[in-house]
Amino acid sequence: MSPVVVLVGPPGSGKSTIAALLATRLGRTHRDTDTDVVNEAGKPISDIFVDSGEAAFRALERAAIVAALKDDDAVLSLGGGAILDPETRADLAGHNVVYLDVSIGEAAKRVGLGVARPLLLGNVRTQLKNLMDARRPLYVEVAKLTVTTDGRTPEEIADEIVEHL
Ligand code: S3P
Repeated sequence: MSPVVVLVGPPGSGKSTIAALLATRLGRTHRDTDTDVVNEAGKPISDIFVDSGEAAFRALERAAIVAALKDDDAVLSLGGGAILDPETRADLAGHNVVYLDVSIGEAAKRVGLGVARPLLLGNVRTQLKNLMDARRPLYVEVAKLTVTTDGRTPEEIADEIVEHL
């Protein structure tokens, strides 16, 4: 089984955009665990958090990851908090995991444009800083490659990843 290409990083690091580009370039399928969870639950992530709590969301996310990692034809983008689960970190060991590193300022700009993220309510920059400080060691732990994304286009970032695969 060939390894899955997996993109990890905080909200606003560009995981979904770059995974879609990579999938096209590599002739693979793009899978996104947030999308899989929304489809499975039949409602947006913000509603899952409100109705059932974060733990219920994490359980759905974990099931989506287990299923997606069996798809060796995939380029997979994970939700920013997926790496909090030690079993997920262990499962990622055999795959091509890329950490998309991004500054707080750049990530804050990007999430400002996107869908509602329940963990970023309130002061987005402060919430992002807290998330990134807590998670950076976990992203580094699972990653085979770290790519800097600030000031670069999605195409340039995808080029760098393809060179290293
Ligand atoms: C989360 C990030 C979100 C989504 C959920 C929780 C997190 O995905 O999975 O809102 O814990 O950082 P993105 O990283 O795609 O925003």
